[in-house]
Amino acid sequence: MTVKSPLTETAISAYRQYFEKSPEFLVRAPGRVNLIGEHTDYNNGFVLPCAISAHTIIAIGRNNRDVVDIVACDLEDAREAFPTKIPVTRSASNPWSDYFRGVFSEFQSEKLPTGGVNVVVASSIPHGAGLSSSAALEVGFAAALAETFSDQNIAHSRLARIAQRAENDFVGLQCGIMDQLASACGIENHALLIDCMTNAFERKRFPDNVSLMIVHSGVKHTHVGGEYNQRRKQCEQACAILEVDSLRQASMCDIENSKLSGDALKRARHVVSENQRTLEAADALERGEHKRLGELMNASHVSMRDDFEITTPEIDELVSILQAEIGQEGGARMTGGGFGGCVVAILPNAISTRVRSAVIRDYFKGQHGIILEGKPEAGLSVTQYSSPL
Ligand code: GLA
Repeated sequence: MTVKSPLTETAISAYRQYFEKSPEFLVRAPGRVNLIGEHTDYNNGFVLPCAISAHTIIAIGRNNRDVVDIVACDLEDAREAFPTKIPVTRSASNPWSDYFRGVFSEFQSEKLPTGGVNVVVASSIPHGAGLSSSAALEVGFAAALAETFSDQNIAHSRLARIAQRAENDFVGLQCGIMDQLASACGIENHALLIDCMTNAFERKRFPDNVSLMIVHSGVKHTHVGGEYNQRRKQCEQACAILEVDSLRQASMCDIENSKLSGDALKRARHVVSENQRTLEAADALERGEHKRLGELMNASHVSMRDDFEITTPEIDELVSILQAEIGQEGGARMTGGGFGGCVVAILPNAISTRVRSAVIRDYFKGQHGIILEGKPEAGLSVTQYSSPL
């Protein structure tokens, strides 16, 4: 597959400027949006994400020095280098480089070949928007290292697991597999129904007559070490009370008849009902029933707001505006980890201009805002750019 993007020019010209030669490989790793199935992945449940057009480009080439030397075009060409010797450590001054350090360190733990490289990264995925800009970085860098140093073909799903471990063990966010798998394995015009107990996924075709609309609330989220990890702990506490290994094993009936109370009850109720909604949503998508999918997305939002308690007043307002404008024709919900970020809507192509105008008028009060529209896109791709030295 070929890497095509206006960002590739930015990355190539920065690479030439800073490293005075051409990169060997270009990698394109997309962001993702989750249609439904939130905070279910680390509970061994189901999710229904797809890759999106916003993406990250990584240009890479060997440098024959024992350092990883990175330039980040989106951070005003910030530059950071770290030695390749074990152990790779975290950066106090440039935490953005921890995503690269984490992936590099996981390659070393897995005894996969590595070496010194020059890297340029450029991205069109808004940061802190819940569209997995960090997963795209990790997956993209993992693919770039694999392509540069490995003789064997490393499966995209394995690169996703390496990227997830970098996030869990190095960066410190106890996330599930959804973001990395969607970025690595996304399929054009399809959503992926992922069973996070086995990481197996099925493709679900996206209907031709509907589109996705993703709107950034403008509230930036940060997850690392905060509310996200706390939610995960609360789910584990619920499992201990229910005497199950994961919430995948619990039914709504088990929850209603259990000793769960307070936050643990609410968190478990969200996860178990969300799994059910996600399976129904995948069926609805398969049958082309976007109205049913919309209803399930609306119900998911209520559950995230009232039971999992991860929405914000701005997000709730934006969802209400979208739902009111879309009516019975589709639906809308917050997407991603929560506490800010984006809202995703599904709606017929025929009404998208009207809905977009309503969002600009009622939410952005006529000002500029980030609104992405389109269909599911393909996942990770890699191309050779120039011959090795
Ligand atoms: C973040 C995490 C994912 C997932 C979502 C919530 O995006 O990285 O693993 O848990 O939040 O569904």
